[in-house]
Amino acid sequence: MPLLAIETTCDETAAAVIGRDRTVLSSVVASQEALHARWRGVVPEIASRAHVERIIPVVDEALSRAGIGRGDVIAVAVATSPGLVGSLLVGLSAAKAIAAVLGVPVVGYDHVAAHLYACRLAHGSRLRYPCVGLVASGGHTSLFHVRGPVDLVRLGGTIDDAAGEAFDKAASLLGLGYPGGPEIERVAVGGNPRAHRLPRPLAADRDRLDLSFSGLKTALRYLVRPPGTADAPPPTDRALADLAASFQQAVVDSILAKVALAVDKTGCDVVAVGGGVAANTLLRETLDAFGRDRGVTVLVPPKSLCTDNAAMGAIAWERLERGDADGLTLDVKPGTDRAAANRR
Ligand code: KG4
Ligand code: ZN
Repeated sequence: MPLLAIETTCDETAAAVIGRDRTVLSSVVASQEALHARWRGVVPEIASRAHVERIIPVVDEALSRAGIGRGDVIAVAVATSPGLVGSLLVGLSAAKAIAAVLGVPVVGYDHVAAHLYACRLAHGSRLRYPCVGLVASGGHTSLFHVRGPVDLVRLGGTIDDAAGEAFDKAASLLGLGYPGGPEIERVAVGGNPRAHRLPRPLAADRDRLDLSFSGLKTALRYLVRPPGTADAPPPTDRALADLAASFQQAVVDSILAKVALAVDKTGCDVVAVGGGVAANTLLRETLDAFGRDRGVTVLVPPKSLCTDNAAMGAIAWERLERGDADGLTLDVKPGTDRAAANRR
């Protein structure tokens, strides 16, 4: 008997049906990218309203694709933290209503832990604990000592922008679309990643597992438009490719440095990676090469499980199997982990 998972932390309205053996019977994601693109970032009010309009059709679609009826659902899982408060509340309200009508438990889960749990869905028992966890997305860039699926100790992370947020802002500076990560990746193809010397703040600091991307963003800004050149023509395609490739390389180098340090400090031989930025091909290849060099198992989910989705709500099984669930007093915890409200 499967569970229904609901995910509305930011700008994707998603629902999935997952069996106890962690088989994903269906996974539906209604992206709001088109709604936010003209603002080059997520507008919280638009996101909440779109979730309200979409959540029930998305849930119905997930049930229908799984070939089950509402009565077959044994629990409703929902991401309650972290995220945009309005967005989270839509998912929680829907989850509670469905759970109440069906007379089944509601189970809240953490979106960041769920991003890492996507590795369990994709790689099964190759995900061993304890491991190092890296979550790099639009709202978070954090490193964890992962002692179990729902037992994460934060080792460090960004002290300013998240990596995805940096990609989004860099894309905006370069006149590219939203979301910025895939745009930078597309434009960077054929560009020279060493064309510009961009900073890798904190990368050489072996005392802390923190990262910083805001200086990198500022450096890019001055490369694109040096002071006093407001009327300069936009960069040529060639120049754009070099800028995008250099920026992407700097982000990837910064992340790799801290993943390597986390492995050194914890002695873990498994690294689990999740979040939208983990869809980046250069980051995936770089982490893969690191794993081979160091004899460390690096697990990255397929791209569709890196960006926001509800299949990773399978993490709720970890609590349900222990007989643990929440009541209808369950509330959201938007959190301080740099919610996407600051992304523009
Ligand atoms: O995990 P996610 O879907 O949502 C959050 O939890 O934030 O991550 C979205 C972020 C966006 O900032 C987007 O630009 C970035 O992930 N992203 C990428 C790529 N695909 C998505 N960044 C770099 N390269 C990509 N291919
Ligand atoms: Zn996410």
